[in-house]
Amino acid sequence: MNWTKSISLSAAALMMATPAFANNKVNAGQVTFSKDVLPILQENCQECHRPDGANLGGMIAPMAFTTYEDARPWAKAIAKEVSARNMPPWDATPEFHGVFKNERVLTEEEIDTVVAWAKTGAKRGNPADAPEPLVFPETGGWQIGEPDLVMSMPEKYFVKDDVEDIYVNFYDVITEEELPEPRYIKAIEFRPGSPVVHHIISDPLGGIAPGNGPTIYPEGYGKVLKPGARVSFEMHYHKEAGAGTGVWDQSYAAVTFYPKGYVPEHEVRMAMLGNFEFEIPAGDPNYTAKAEESFNRDTQILSYTPHMHLRGKAALYTAHTPDGKEEVLLDVPAYDFNWQTTYWYNDPKVLPAGSRMELVTTWDNSENNPYNPDPNQTVTWGEPTTDEMMFGFVQYAFVEEPEGLSLELMEGYTGEYAVGPMKFQVGGWNGQLSVYFQNREFSLSFESLHKFSIAGVGVEFTFVPDEDGSVNTLKVKMGEQTHEAKRVETAEHTEDTD
Ligand code: HEC
Repeated sequence: MNWTKSISLSAAALMMATPAFANNKVNAGQVTFSKDVLPILQENCQECHRPDGANLGGMIAPMAFTTYEDARPWAKAIAKEVSARNMPPWDATPEFHGVFKNERVLTEEEIDTVVAWAKTGAKRGNPADAPEPLVFPETGGWQIGEPDLVMSMPEKYFVKDDVEDIYVNFYDVITEEELPEPRYIKAIEFRPGSPVVHHIISDPLGGIAPGNGPTIYPEGYGKVLKPGARVSFEMHYHKEAGAGTGVWDQSYAAVTFYPKGYVPEHEVRMAMLGNFEFEIPAGDPNYTAKAEESFNRDTQILSYTPHMHLRGKAALYTAHTPDGKEEVLLDVPAYDFNWQTTYWYNDPKVLPAGSRMELVTTWDNSENNPYNPDPNQTVTWGEPTTDEMMFGFVQYAFVEEPEGLSLELMEGYTGEYAVGPMKFQVGGWNGQLSVYFQNREFSLSFESLHKFSIAGVGVEFTFVPDEDGSVNTLKVKMGEQTHEAKRVETAEHTEDTD
């Protein structure tokens, strides 16, 4: 756990827990496992702390708390972790209580109950007081239920002894036998094949990092998967290098579908707020960077996933609406690299057309950050865990789908365009277009079927279809100037598999 967080939260917990305890809300002498503690563990812990518990981005809780015998030896540790609010893991500030669907928090009273139990001999009590044990469905360990389709890296890969960080891309092509017709995805779950998987990024499935759970779309929201689709497994392996540390990996992804023929009202898209140009000074305990994205149609925000590396400290998402108001959407003051959470709204947050979303992230590059691999280093963007990243993935849907904006149309826009020495690489990822130019990647905000823009930069991109509908011309408007770029035929993307 993050040092700052543990200290400040345990201090807060201490201050808050003591008076409540003194108020006798919890009658310490009578607290028992069967009557008082087991219901709390069932409700808040057993999802992960049970045999074959949840696998969250490769993190599996090391012990079960399903019976008295299992939990008793952990009583002190349980009391400590819950009063420090390290467990259950959840890093958003309290004003967001009740806002997110996958929230995991204990009430003060629940914390007091657990602490009182541990302090008074961790008694079993009368087994007749215990609630029925929870029954977890037999789904081979998949949290999304019995998958309709399981995909995997096509072969095992050996992460060699001398490797510390390595990136390897694999593809699983979905055959017509596996998927005879396009279907809409309801839920997605990744299963890392070894503990050295640091993250998996997948087009079109999204991805996971440590602590990240499955994706379960709200009813009426989904993403299409088609026969012949190339599902990527962009693997980042991270471990300590050394003799005997080599590990085989083969990671999986599973999906469940909506019923055949069902077309959800909303296509789920993913915006990527990112900044690649920060430079975190050595020793700086509080360095920030910004990124933003504009939404030019009425938009429903579904989730946020802040992503940084070991020096990540805080993430703050703010909305600036066209009426001039500013609203904090999500505040994660104690970002924890080990618990990369996707914050899923109970009810989608609607941002009116013309809203701008801003992400500010903070890093702690000082020696007080126990995860900091080297406080004497100036740190910039880089793929290895010892460099940094700055992303805010945002899943969203349009309140009303723009007529005619299909994934096919967007696929038709992707490719490389050039005018003179200027090159624009247009890519598509998870229902969202982005463009790479001037050594940077920008995500493109939807303006109209053919027109997209970059937030806050005043650059517009208009794709101009030929008579046959294919797109070979891209008009780029920068300030007063408009450039007409033409499609460049490029070699099929090569795979970087070593
Ligand atoms: C989302 C999954 C998840 C939930 C929910 C969860 N835990 Fe954990 N827990 C873990 C994982 C994974 C670990 C091991 C890694 C770590 O320590 O961060 C862990 C570790 C622990 C530890 C050992 C810490 C140590 O290193 O000494 C305790 C004690 C604990 N959890 C208690 C609880 C209690 C009590 C609850 C419920 C109030 C709970 N956990 C809820 C996943 C979870």
